[in-house]
Amino acid sequence: MPDFDTSVPHVARVYDYWLGGTDNFPADRAMGERTLAAYPNLVYSVRANRAFLARAVRYLAGQAGIRQFLDIGTGIPTANNTHEVAQRVAPESRIVYVDHDPVVLAHAKELLTSTPEGASAYLDGDLRDPGAILAAAADTLDFGQPVAVMLIAVMHFVGDDAEASAIVHRLIGACVPGSFVTISHAASDIDAAQMAEMIRRLNETTAEKTTLRDRAGVTRLFEGLDLVEPGVIRAAEWRPDTEAEAASPAALWGGVARKR
Ligand SMILES: C[S@@+](CC[C@H](N)C(=O)[O-])C[C@H]1O[C@@H](n2cnc3c(N)ncnc32)[C@H](O)[C@@H]1O
Repeated sequence: MPDFDTSVPHVARVYDYWLGGTDNFPADRAMGERTLAAYPNLVYSVRANRAFLARAVRYLAGQAGIRQFLDIGTGIPTANNTHEVAQRVAPESRIVYVDHDPVVLAHAKELLTSTPEGASAYLDGDLRDPGAILAAAADTLDFGQPVAVMLIAVMHFVGDDAEASAIVHRLIGACVPGSFVTISHAASDIDAAQMAEMIRRLNETTAEKTTLRDRAGVTRLFEGLDLVEPGVIRAAEWRPDTEAEAASPAALWGGVARKR
């Protein structure tokens, strides 16, 4: 039996349910259905989020030449985890995953299937303590070389704008120029009424409360960094592979920015 309370839905497991995964409990599934009833397009949002992650990592490992990734709020392993996408482009890529959910920890071995040339590591850590994450990540990553900090569908668990900005800037502040930050974030200004009701239901019982941000609010998280084209945009429209992908009705903002 797990040694945590499975009667309370947890965002990692509800997200797993939305994605069609099996690492969730009845309380997570019930919340998954309640939120989907408020916003049926959620299924498209979570798929578009994973597709955005894969395209961003492909861009970073490919065009941008990044070989180190710090992926915070990793989630339960699913298809196209960061190290798999990065190491398909550059097998020597090194990845550190960070999450604080015990179910993610229980499945961490699926994240540790690195190529022999590269490395992947998992840290049980909290985004709200970036100093501890940076200290532990330094066992695997060389902070003298560029790093891509991946904050995929996780900054909306930090409700206070000043705290959210401080976390992003503490993380990228520890990285050399030429490093990157990638963020995807649930939107308050796309399908606004349905999204608000969906989040109201989610926040009734989950331990972490979700805070939606609008496009300007997400853009502010990148302050002082150079956004790569096309800037902060609907995640589905960030360098899409196909028109169908771009047309996904996903209520998420996404962007990638480079440290000068
Ligand atoms: C919506 S899932 C996103 C997973 C993955 N990044 C993706 O986009 O597919 C959010 C993840 O962030 C994790 N998370 C939430 N708050 C966190 C925190 N303060 N520190 C570390 N992880 C956190 C949750 O446990 C969950 O696994």
